[in-house]
Amino acid sequence: MKQVLLVPFLLFWIFFVLHSTTTSAQSPAQSPAAPSGPSDILSILKKAGHFTTFIRLLKNTDMAEQINGQLKKNSLGLTIFAPPDSCFSNLKLGTLNSLTDKQQLQLVQFHILPSFYSILQLQTATNPVHTLAGDSNDGHFQLNVTSSSGEQVNLTTGIVSATAADTIYTDNSQLAVYRVDQVLLPLEIFGSPSPPPSKPKQSAATTASTSETSGLIGPNLPQTAISLGVAVGAMFSFWL
Ligand SMILES: *[C@@H]1O[C@H](CO)[C@@H](O)[C@H](O)[C@H]1NC(C)=O
Ligand SMILES: *[C@@H]1O[C@H](CO)[C@@H](O)[C@H](O)[C@H]1NC(C)=O
Repeated sequence: MKQVLLVPFLLFWIFFVLHSTTTSAQSPAQSPAAPSGPSDILSILKKAGHFTTFIRLLKNTDMAEQINGQLKKNSLGLTIFAPPDSCFSNLKLGTLNSLTDKQQLQLVQFHILPSFYSILQLQTATNPVHTLAGDSNDGHFQLNVTSSSGEQVNLTTGIVSATAADTIYTDNSQLAVYRVDQVLLPLEIFGSPSPPPSKPKQSAATTASTSETSGLIGPNLPQTAISLGVAVGAMFSFWL
């Protein structure tokens, strides 16, 4: 008797458990997908294809987030020169890995202009054009448009000459993304090989700090002696 009652109960229980797990499994799938507007730089590059290295750099340096944030504000817009993977593989082996975090950021920033340029506007831009990497008017991080014809511009950094020919994306007001055929290597980072900058800086810092500490001890000793003498003299004059 007992078993006969138990079977329908178990069946009901199994049905109940199965039903509740399937419904709970369904609910997260039904939640709306994260909105990815047309001007999400990473999805633009992913869709274009063959930009995995540039995408990785944009992510590692947090520039992807900054770009998307910038585009949400109603700003002057951005122009991005995107080198495809083949450009990065043309670089000397280990080039990217030899860069410091700051240099990687500067390299990425050098590929971004802080305003929207159509190809036509680029062709008539004043040299050097401003990039996010630094103040080009100071002679740092200069990027020049050297020549143009039709729908393309040639760029020079002082190290490489690149051509921007293909428009990957443009909304004609906020964002333009062009494919370049070279990684734009800034003179500041890839210029004439100089001795590792950390060495002379460090020795200069240590000599400075030692002279500082000796300076602290040096002039202070006679000073305390003088003030002691003055105090003793004052005491004597008081006693007299
Ligand atoms: C731009 O550079 C490419 C490759 O260096 C060259 O073939 C082309 O003639 C240049 N374009 C102009 C307009 O000078
Ligand atoms: C860029 O153009 C400016 C102005 O013509 C010039 O002074 C500068 O030397 C150029 N820099 C490079 C890297 O070509």
